[in-house]
Amino acid sequence: MSSTTTGPAARVFSSDNAAGGSPEIVEAMAAVAAGPALPYGADECTAAAESRLSEIFERDVDVLLVSTGTAANALSLAALTPPWGSVLCHRDSHINNDECGAPEFYTAGAKLVPLGGDDARIDPEQLRAAARHKAGDVHSVEPSVVSVTQATETGAVYTLDEIRTLGSITEEAGLRLHMDGARFAGAVAALGCTPAELTWRAGVDLLSFGATKNGTMTADAIVVFDRSLTSELAFRAKRAGQLTSKMRFQAAQLDAYLRDDLWLRNAAHANAMAARLQEGLKAVPGVELLGTADVNILFCRLPRRITEALLAEGYTFYHDRWEPGVVRFVTSFATTERDVDHLVRSVVRHAA
Ligand SMILES: Cc1ncc(COP(=O)(O)O)c(C=O)c1O
Repeated sequence: MSSTTTGPAARVFSSDNAAGGSPEIVEAMAAVAAGPALPYGADECTAAAESRLSEIFERDVDVLLVSTGTAANALSLAALTPPWGSVLCHRDSHINNDECGAPEFYTAGAKLVPLGGDDARIDPEQLRAAARHKAGDVHSVEPSVVSVTQATETGAVYTLDEIRTLGSITEEAGLRLHMDGARFAGAVAALGCTPAELTWRAGVDLLSFGATKNGTMTADAIVVFDRSLTSELAFRAKRAGQLTSKMRFQAAQLDAYLRDDLWLRNAAHANAMAARLQEGLKAVPGVELLGTADVNILFCRLPRRITEALLAEGYTFYHDRWEPGVVRFVTSFATTERDVDHLVRSVVRHAA
């Protein structure tokens, strides 16, 4: 988990996707390379990953391994809405802003209906209204599925009560519930509740279970709680080019990710690094923290001269993408305390 580098890698705060792979996962992938295995997910390693997920979620689940979070989201939504349906989501959600229309494409044209709410969390009252808006009216799209992101795109988490509230509004309106869990591990680590409580016990039908941002390299999954959807999802995944022939390599990553709580240890570490950064930056003159980093994402407003000085030092992070002056720092399982402290010291120096 730790690295002593002070080179360019130590200055990467652009994305958790920039991190490499956890050593345990790299080793597991290499181990399955020796010898043959049945293709297309009929191998033992895929079965092992599936049974680990069933253990973690405290019930039998079906699992589809996919190579990207976008595929997990778009395939899940396609299984949960007809083409004339709508997907109720937050206006800042990844599905609404960052997936190049994949949800609309895979659903064959369902409409994304963006809702508001603080810190990219859907406001329950807005959801209540939208969930019944023009339901049954052939002139409009039919409200069909709610998609929540846990943890959110701004680094916040929904509390368990908040998820349960959205789950009941969804159920009362007769809609389905999808969770984009690109940073699900971060949310579980931050909240300390069980994966089951956060998902199917609150009404989640399908979970996009992200892992690539937190230790795996090319392996995410769709976790299926409503198993009547599995067969349809399997056809959809193949049709989308997501049924990998050498599935064992993705499965080995996921299996190692879930073994001995590596997924939670990695996430807790990434969260702690963002908290350390937040603590270090909070008293720096001119730096305004925006929201709180419940997980591994910290947004803040920086004076332009500080942003430019950090960039000149070789730091990488997104800036001016949301609003002028707003920057985003993302930590990962591979970020070290030393990396964070260097960044804080640089900001302090440039602020002086
Ligand atoms: C909230 C969220 N959902 C899904 C994804 C998955 O994206 P990708 O298709 O790049 O794996 C991301 C990646 O940044 C994300 O932040």
